[in-house]
Amino acid sequence: MEGGDSVASAHSQRLADLIRAEAAAAGGSLPFDRFMELALYAPRLGYYVAGAEKFGAGGDFVTAPGLSPLFGLCLARQCEEVLRVLGEGDILELGAGSGELAADILDGLQAAGCLPSRYLILEPGAELRERQRELLLARHANLASRIHWLDRLPQDLTGILLANEVMDAMPVNRFQIGLGGRLDEIRVRPQDGEGEQGWAEVLAAPQDPALAVAIAGLQARGLALAQPYNSEINLRLGPWLAALATSMKRGLMLLIDYGYDEADYYRPERSMGTLVCHYRHHVHGDPYAHLGLQDITAHVDFSAAARAGQAAGLELAGFTTQAHFLLALGMEELLAELLSGAECGTSRGLNLLLGAKQLVLPSAMGERFRVLGLAKSLRPDQGPWQGFSLRDLRGRL
Ligand SMILES: C[S@@+](CC[C@H](N)C(=O)[O-])C[C@H]1O[C@@H](n2cnc3c(N)ncnc32)[C@H](O)[C@@H]1O
Repeated sequence: MEGGDSVASAHSQRLADLIRAEAAAAGGSLPFDRFMELALYAPRLGYYVAGAEKFGAGGDFVTAPGLSPLFGLCLARQCEEVLRVLGEGDILELGAGSGELAADILDGLQAAGCLPSRYLILEPGAELRERQRELLLARHANLASRIHWLDRLPQDLTGILLANEVMDAMPVNRFQIGLGGRLDEIRVRPQDGEGEQGWAEVLAAPQDPALAVAIAGLQARGLALAQPYNSEINLRLGPWLAALATSMKRGLMLLIDYGYDEADYYRPERSMGTLVCHYRHHVHGDPYAHLGLQDITAHVDFSAAARAGQAAGLELAGFTTQAHFLLALGMEELLAELLSGAECGTSRGLNLLLGAKQLVLPSAMGERFRVLGLAKSLRPDQGPWQGFSLRDLRGRL
């Protein structure tokens, strides 16, 4: 075994030991959301907290900011529109990943002469925070006094809150509806085989009554009725959105992710759920492989997010595809500007074109990714915001 691999496997083992100990203390098994939470966020060991590279060619997956600066430059235009209406305000980015999105947005806003008072970042991973700091210092040393990392949500945020691919990284509960309609929660139990340790999925009556209530709600709306049916549900989304709503005094939230409206999410044919894992650009469905070394994600139920936001007092300001959002913000014009600055036939020009295609093509990110806008204390006539002006999908939620 090579040095790097043995370090990685020792890391996985330490995380496995931690999860085993917690499962033993809990009576033998853990609900899937707790397993996922530990796999991704256990202090010093979880995937997003420990040191390995995650984003880009040398990591496990690529997100929109890593594909093209156009993503951040378009978002900058949406931020500019909101900041001009507010007079002034901050931007808060949740889960800023590599820091590229923040750097691109600041590029766009600086060029427009409309910088936010502060660019705030809330990032649970200490290692990621350091990477973001390095990148932002390298690209925006002149703005260092405006960029701050927070340990918790601020109070009275006025401005814009951004979360790109954050909701898909939130721990989800998994459930199974068996033949006969019985609802079980999928739990995770450590398993010892001959010289091997592993994980078994076990079915049990839901311990958290909120799970049964949420599934009953889906079924009352004619969803998740096929049998047998496996899927997942994000019970943390409601409290999370309520906390975001409390934190914001006035402004617009933009939540961008891959996902569906609930009718599409819980349709009969999607009877194996949406859980996927990313390890070194290999996409697969085994959350128990590469423990602590791979991303585990679930698609987002945007209907649930919109409902939770509205229940927390937010206005549904927009819902559209990533392609329509970016095109409405003038992505083609921005691309032409960038291409005119890149020498014809150079790899930079080619990369700009390829990145732009990835962002908007329906077969790539264009349709699969959605943008949800939730507003607080903005007048209805202060909209529709430019990003939502091309295609309004709110009726689907
Ligand atoms: C898939 S990555 C996306 C990173 C980045 N936004 C991008 O688009 O490249 C998920 C990010 O969300 C962060 N995250 C997860 N839960 C969070 C929460 N409750 N608040 C803020 N960030 C969170 C993770 O630490 C990680 O940086």
